[in-house]
Amino acid sequence: MSALRTKSQNSETRAAASPENRFTPSARPLSANKHLIRWVEKIAELTKPDAIHWVDGSQEENDALCAQMMETGTLIKLNQDLWPGCYYARSDPRDVARVEDRTFICSLSKEAAGPTNNWVDPYEMRRKLKTLFRGCMRGRTMYVLAFSMGVIDSPMSQIGVELTDSPYVVVNMRIMARIGLPALAEIDKDIKRVVPCVHSVGAPLAPGQRDAPWPCNDEKYIVHYPETRQIWSYGSGYGGNALLGKKCFALRIASNIARDEGWMAEHMLILGVEDPQGEKTYVAAAFPSACGKTNFAMMIPPEGLEGWKVWTVGDDIAWIKPDRNGQLYAINPEAGFFGVAPGTSPETNPNAIATLSRNSIFTNVALTPNGGVWWEGLTDEPPAECLDWQGNYWTPQIGRETGRRAAHPNSRFTSPAAQCPSIDPQWENPGGVPISAFIFGGRRASNIPLVFQAFNWSAGVYVGATMGSETTAAAAGAVGKVRRDPMAMLPFCGYHMGDYFRHWLRMQRGLSSTPKIFHVNWFRKGDDGKFIWPGYSQNMRVLKWIVDRARSRAFAKETPIGWVPRYSDIEWKGLDFPQEKFEQLQAVDTSAWKSEVMGHEELFIELHDHLPPEMIYERELLICRL
Ligand code: GTP
Ligand code: SPV
Ligand code: MN
Repeated sequence: MSALRTKSQNSETRAAASPENRFTPSARPLSANKHLIRWVEKIAELTKPDAIHWVDGSQEENDALCAQMMETGTLIKLNQDLWPGCYYARSDPRDVARVEDRTFICSLSKEAAGPTNNWVDPYEMRRKLKTLFRGCMRGRTMYVLAFSMGVIDSPMSQIGVELTDSPYVVVNMRIMARIGLPALAEIDKDIKRVVPCVHSVGAPLAPGQRDAPWPCNDEKYIVHYPETRQIWSYGSGYGGNALLGKKCFALRIASNIARDEGWMAEHMLILGVEDPQGEKTYVAAAFPSACGKTNFAMMIPPEGLEGWKVWTVGDDIAWIKPDRNGQLYAINPEAGFFGVAPGTSPETNPNAIATLSRNSIFTNVALTPNGGVWWEGLTDEPPAECLDWQGNYWTPQIGRETGRRAAHPNSRFTSPAAQCPSIDPQWENPGGVPISAFIFGGRRASNIPLVFQAFNWSAGVYVGATMGSETTAAAAGAVGKVRRDPMAMLPFCGYHMGDYFRHWLRMQRGLSSTPKIFHVNWFRKGDDGKFIWPGYSQNMRVLKWIVDRARSRAFAKETPIGWVPRYSDIEWKGLDFPQEKFEQLQAVDTSAWKSEVMGHEELFIELHDHLPPEMIYERELLICRL
């Protein structure tokens, strides 16, 4: 056990930064924008950091920050021969996922936030946050982190500045967004409105107090002010709670901007399918958290579908806007992937494995004796020994006996999108890529077929609006409970869900060609409790049918819930999948669907006073067909 030390034995291994790469904060403003400078001063006055640092985004700065975090124990440098440019972090066990019950939409009226969001009066919340943030950065450096969501020169991109006391956030945001000098230069042009974001881990340090490897606070607040377009986050350093460009800005605030300006901010991957003739079709797909977006976006077609190729544009968020001719175009506002580690392997997602092999940050996975990382599913055979995500000694036997996993179910990798072998040549096109189809999908053990196509746009909006999915480890709370998660946006829509459906319906009016809408479910289980569908690369067979339908060159048959492929409409070359199993996957059980519709009703009752009438009509039509 020489190479392995548990966390408590680990303090002496904290690396000392050499003097030449020691991080020294620079308070010299890197912007001439007086509003920005004054705001930075104002927040510093409130939070009282020891130092201020304007982030330029350079490699040198990044290296120095990582060296500093190695000293505090936040980061461990992985074996650079195996994992070049990679670091490892363990979070506090009380800070491992998004906290939906601590996430607030503080619009002026409660009505505007709607019943699916937590709401607190914005004046009251501002008072509360003032108290929490007073002096909360003592003993720390406040980083001024300017970022652009979307490529700098895109008319669809948006600018934010995150003031954060977490260097871990800075180095992660450097992968996830375009940060530093180019974003600051954009602010100095003074054309785009800037979204101010304030973030603190909520753990001030007394003079001489030694920092924790993962400082955080048990009291957490993830707060959005939709009207003034501001974000305040307190108490967490993890993922969507802290990397504020992602869910807070690119979804909750952006969904408000999008509604006002006539575009869409969606929890969607974007991919391009190239057919054997070289023709490309782009689709966007909304699956809830940890339900397969990253995997689908990077899929490599299986044996039997040679000549088809999937190109990745984005794996989590899409901003979608009609062009002058009424064709929808989508950009990926992010620059990196914050992907679920468990289940990611050379078999399930080789493109992700190639992407995360260098310049990546791993959080809450297991650490192997040779300075590498491991997680459940990476290899069939677990390592003989490792340190688990909490730094405790772990062996397969300990795992079996205690049920403890080596990696946390929501452990993640942060990797540059540009490193993805399947990254689309158009992924940074400032104008985006044209979208021909939308796909909704959930994690459902029963009832929901592998694939069906909605009859038209309004029926498709109904399909998205009534989506159900089992909860996952991506959010704190119970796992495996079916809940309604409209368009995979339940935790991310920054306003009333009924108005959001209305916005979806309204979007179609400006379109010259309406994308076709589909629903998929890779997770239907048989009587043996096992997934019926092999999933992953085999999903290409479903995607091929979808693309062929979108291009009006595939057949389907009508069912009460929509159009479905017959067995003969799917390409089966290279896969031995008997027709009976396919029929089992595609089965639409009318009595089960009748209770499904009761589930739709529950959400609709909650939203009733804002629910567009189309949703009621679509429900009635569905009931009649059943
Ligand atoms: P977020 O980043 O949380 O928004 O999640 P995501 O939608 O990108 O999910 P991701 O692709 O990371 O998948 C989450 C989990 O689902 C992983 O453990 C995958 O291995 C698993 N998964 C993905 N696709 C499939 C599939 O087709 N079949 C099965 N059975 N599991 C899948
Ligand atoms: C999700 O939960 O949908 C994620 C991860 O993509 S996080 O950024 O933490 O929200
Ligand atoms: Mn997500």
